[in-house]
Formats: sequence, structure tokens, C-alpha cells
Amino acid sequence: MNNHIAIKNFVRMCEDGWNQGWHERNGGNLSYRMTKTEVLDCIDKFDMSSDYKPLGISAPNMADEHFIVTGSGKYMRNVPLCPEENICIVRIDETGSMYKVVWGLTKGGKPTSELSSHILNHSVKAELTDGRYRVMYHAHPENVVSLSYVLPLNDKDFSRALWQSETECAMVFPEGVGVVGWYIPGGTELAEASSEKMKSYDAVVWAHHGLFCSGVDFDSTFGLMHTVEKAASIFVKVKCMGGAKQTITDEQLVRIAESIGEVLNPDFVDLGKEA
Ligand code: 13P
Ligand code: ZN
Repeated sequence: MNNHIAIKNFVRMCEDGWNQGWHERNGGNLSYRMTKTEVLDCIDKFDMSSDYKPLGISAPNMADEHFIVTGSGKYMRNVPLCPEENICIVRIDETGSMYKVVWGLTKGGKPTSELSSHILNHSVKAELTDGRYRVMYHAHPENVVSLSYVLPLNDKDFSRALWQSETECAMVFPEGVGVVGWYIPGGTELAEASSEKMKSYDAVVWAHHGLFCSGVDFDSTFGLMHTVEKAASIFVKVKCMGGAKQTITDEQLVRIAESIGEVLNPDFVDLGKEA
């Protein structure tokens, strides 16, 4: 199983996230919606005998899907050492509201406590992208979390702060980022608030907690997490150096996105109002 290509790519991302310092203790979680071919490749290793348990949310378009998911309370740093103890494959039932573990977590445990957020976000993105999005990733990157203590907790202020902190950002996430307030981790309220934001953005800040990113594959999703966190770290450095003396203008932000055929979210720029 550990040589299965989807498992290998999944494990590599866990290791990369740990190496970035985004996963203290059991912080963060990752999920990947398997293709039909990937499922068929390993279905003979599945144990279907456990009972279905409620997800706490309903995602009818995720019925009968299979996800590779990190285990709750498991450490990202341990995933490469023993994938089968620290991650699992869950199957969603035919209603999209229950799940069961069919592989992994060989020493016990359950899927991430944020499973409801992952599945609801997968549901939203699959619907919007005709099934192209397959990866959901939650991490605790320290600079993004730091920003949530100083910036107003709204999409526009966060998006602008990040776009202005590094030229790349207006290309990588021209739609901006979403922001949700503080919620109890692992709850359905957090899942529902996140999935609302996922309708408009690929990255959602969880105030005083972390960041949730989505994407078509492991590279783009990891890359988005990395880009947002790097921009946040530049923002923090600039603040510590006494604040920006100059910045990227709104007109320049629009042009950055245009240069790669994208459109910067017009609600977040104030063209014509600049000096
Ligand atoms: P899990 O260990 O249950 O995945 O929780 C970690 C986390 O980051 C919760 O938000
Ligand atoms: Zn978390």
C-alpha cells in the first residue's frame, strides 16, 4: 500500500509540511479524494467490516467517494515513518453523511477531527470545478495566525495585505483569501463557515488557528499554503521594521493578475482613489 502513488504523494506532502514548521504536535490535517482508478488499484486491501459513523454534515455529491486522510491526534512528522499507523482511507456512504475507515490507522484511532470541514469543502469545490479539486489541507503556519491578531477579520483586508506583501500573490490567488472568525476546532460550525468561504476562495484563514487550502493536486495546494504563509511572514517583518514606506499600488496589483490572464477580485481594489 505504501507504494501506491496516491499514498506516496500524500505522505510526501505531510513530510513537506512538517519540514516547514506548520505542524507542531498533531497540528494540521490533510485529505485527498481518490480517483476511481486509484481506488480500484487497492480495493483488495480494504477492510469493509467496520460500521459507518455520522460525519455531522451532509455532502450528497461525495457519496461513495474514498479519501486518504490523516488520523486525529497523529503527528505529521510520524507519517513518513509509518503511514499505515498515522493515516487512513475513509469511504463515504451512499447518502454522503456517514463514513467508515477501510484502511490504515493500524494501531487504532480515528480520522482527523476536522473531517467534516474537509468533506464539506471537498463537496463545495467538486461541485464548482466539475470534480477537478481533490486536495484539502489545513496547517498552523505562524505568520498567517499572527496576522489574525492585528488585521480586521475580513476577506478584503487580509487579501490586500497579502497581495501587497509579495508580487507573486496577485497571480497565485487573484480572487483573494477568505477569513472566518474563531470557532471551536473540529466542529460543524467551523466546517460550515469554511465551506461558505470555499465557494469564493481557495484559501480560508481560520482566525487565531490556521489556514485551510484547497486545490486540484498536492503541488498546487501545498504551493498555495506556502505562498500565503510567505507573504504573511513578509507582512510581519515589514511591520516589525516600522511599517511599509511604499507598497504595490492597486493599479499594479491589477496588472500583475492581468499579466497571466487572470482578473484580480474587483471588490478588493480601489482604483481611481490612489494619490
Ligand atoms: P487532528 O489531530 O484531529 O487532525 O486535529 C489537528 C488540528 O489542527 C485541529 O484543527
Ligand atoms: Zn488546526
